[in-house]
Amino acid sequence: MLEKDLKYKRVLVKLSGEALAGSQGTGIAPETVSRVCEELGAVLQMGVAMALVIGGGNIFRGLKGSAAGMDRSSADYMGMLATVLNALAVQDMLEKQGYPTRVLSAITMKEVCEPYIRRRALRHLSKGRVVICAAGTGNPYFTTDTTAALRGMELKCEAIIKATKVDGIYSSDPSKDPSAVKYDRLSFDEAVALKLGVMDATAFALVRDNHVPLIVCRMFGGNIARAIAGEPVGTLVSDWYPSLARRRQAYGLW
Ligand code: GTP
Repeated sequence: MLEKDLKYKRVLVKLSGEALAGSQGTGIAPETVSRVCEELGAVLQMGVAMALVIGGGNIFRGLKGSAAGMDRSSADYMGMLATVLNALAVQDMLEKQGYPTRVLSAITMKEVCEPYIRRRALRHLSKGRVVICAAGTGNPYFTTDTTAALRGMELKCEAIIKATKVDGIYSSDPSKDPSAVKYDRLSFDEAVALKLGVMDATAFALVRDNHVPLIVCRMFGGNIARAIAGEPVGTLVSDWYPSLARRRQAYGLW
């Protein structure tokens, strides 16, 4: 595919930490990280500029820690540090596969990686480096989904792709409810009104108020590349005005 045919030329990809875990569901499994990086590599070969945000739930989940009686802020800081481990694992694998990267951390740890400086991140992107944004927003009480929304906007990404285990947004959890229906497209307002839980409210409010389209799709199987090419994979959440055909149907006109 030619670069000019791409629907989105600069994207932010959000991966959950669990995407890096092996069959045990926790920790970092190098063979899984390698598969994830192959998926990302397919996108990079299309000439797309990519920023990455990776969760930390495979190592430590702040909310779970606070539910177990830990101070919420301490638990969230531990979660942020977990995202740095994941960022370094993905950096290592992407570079082994030949893609230049930079890890930029919202919590300064200059012996390990660069500090997050927006203008530096933009420069790295323009030079074809994958910018891996680590340590969340650097603040407790914010999720990595909110980080994805924030960095996506700051770095002028044209879309946020949330790559998950499921192939889109469903009316209820498809692993528990066999009658769950998948949505192909939703408006931001619909996604918020339906309380679908695909992202937390802060993250949703950010993408909605700033009109950044969000695509939720399955991690593997070339879906991220297809979504970026503009193919209808997963669920697209965007500002949405119903098509003429739908309006005709809805209003019984023509
Ligand atoms: P350009 O200025 O566009 O050439 O970018 P660059 O990242 O290649 O230049 P720079 O000289 O800033 O960085 C060279 C290497 O050092 C890169 O691998 C950076 O990731 C790394 N680096 C830069 N700043 C820091 C830092 O504060 N901490 C750590 N740990 N590494 C850094």
